[in-house]
Amino acid sequence: MKTVFEKSVEGKRGMELPKAASDEITQVESVVPKQFLREKAAELPQLGEIEVVRHYTGLSRRNYGVDNGFYPLGSCTMKYNPKVNEEMAKLAGFANLHPLQPESTCQGALKLMFELEQMLCEICGFERFSLQPPAGACGEFTGIRIIRAYHESRGEGTRRRKILIPDSSHGTNPASVTQCGFIAEEIKSNADGRIDLALLKEKMSEEVAGIMITNPNTLGLFEKDIVKVCEIVHEKGGLVYMDGANMNALLGICRPGELGFDVMHLNLHKSFSTPHGGGGPGCGPVGVKKHLVEFLPTPMVEEKNGVYHLNHGLPKSIGKVKSFYGNFGMMVRAYTYIRALGAGGMRRAGEMAVLNANYLKEKLKGEYNLPHDKVCMHEFVLNDEGFPNGVTTNEIAKRLLDLGYHAPTIYFPLIVHGAIMIEPTETESRETLDEFVEAMLQIKREAQEKPDFVKASPHTLPVKKLDAVKAAREPVLRWKKQD
Ligand SMILES: Cc1ncc(COP(=O)(O)O)c(C=O)c1O
Repeated sequence: MKTVFEKSVEGKRGMELPKAASDEITQVESVVPKQFLREKAAELPQLGEIEVVRHYTGLSRRNYGVDNGFYPLGSCTMKYNPKVNEEMAKLAGFANLHPLQPESTCQGALKLMFELEQMLCEICGFERFSLQPPAGACGEFTGIRIIRAYHESRGEGTRRRKILIPDSSHGTNPASVTQCGFIAEEIKSNADGRIDLALLKEKMSEEVAGIMITNPNTLGLFEKDIVKVCEIVHEKGGLVYMDGANMNALLGICRPGELGFDVMHLNLHKSFSTPHGGGGPGCGPVGVKKHLVEFLPTPMVEEKNGVYHLNHGLPKSIGKVKSFYGNFGMMVRAYTYIRALGAGGMRRAGEMAVLNANYLKEKLKGEYNLPHDKVCMHEFVLNDEGFPNGVTTNEIAKRLLDLGYHAPTIYFPLIVHGAIMIEPTETESRETLDEFVEAMLQIKREAQEKPDFVKASPHTLPVKKLDAVKAAREPVLRWKKQD
């Protein structure tokens, strides 16, 4: 498919604006300082309106999304986002708000934020939540900054330099810890795929600020010794962080605050059915217990006698992590989702996430290698060990694209060689899961009977097998006009 620049024809226009009278024209030079002005006009594509519409419609048809089909991308919770969420977010009173308008004119929005926070506290067992972080990774950054602020306020900032991270944690965890100026120290999982208590005791000291645990972990396993883990860390004065991006597996079933966690983040764009977006347009709220409330980002929404206002006055706050109040549209969507499902629906969503993952795991396990054969939570990890004729994880994933599916997450978590990480989510029907199993079994048969065909896949997509090594070594990230 040609780029919109290649389709450009000199002189074509989508529309003509009426000519302004000369006394209405403001010269751009009179309002924009010279150093910000272009030296020559931007080379924009020149096309008619219908050509632009066809170009972008064509592109959108090549996209694969959860509204097109099953999307078992492990650790990403690509579940269906109900359309009623969108209806609510586009209500004029929400969509047209300006972040600087007076509080008295946006009481409804503040009330929604206040109530969403209360619902998240109720679901997770925490004292308060900040809705400000715009992504899960930003939530992690915020939570770890809060841990740092806590230790600094007790005069222990310089001593406690390390954060422990199990090797089954999500990849963003060590990155967030490092960004906050801590040393990330890995703890190897035990044979069970969970935190090794003996190793934890060994590593836990008064130089450790805390531990950051993805729970359920990236093998899809619940940390069953979590209460003990929290005790070990607390005994030495550390804090316990939960990466709660996988909270959909626990909804209505357990409250992390009651397990001993001090701070956690959620991914509203996973567990609470708001759309995903590359590291920014989502919402990664951070919840804390009472002893950490004073460090939360400001402003926080407060209520007094039925009137809502923004409290900017937390003297020990870590400050802002996002402009204004975060991504408000995401809050409207998550609020709608929680209100629509209610407490019973939340629990059912959690149960279905776990049931669907275990159903798929049991159907696939004799056919694909399952390194950790345990009851899983919302996801599970297969690999390509012993797969016929040396067909690899990458080739299985590419062949799935031919069969109309988005690929699972592959080669992650790193602790499973050749990992195929599958998360079906709670919104998929049994029929969809059975069809996916059939596709996976077809690939196994093909690997036995015609392995070269599988190795050369994909066969039906606009682009065929890509040279991934060349793409990584010689990245061409920008289209350039050929003169
Ligand atoms: C367990 C876990 N933690 C953290 C993240 C990071 O979230 P985000 O992509 O919103 O930054 C993800 C993303 O899927 C995740 O699965």
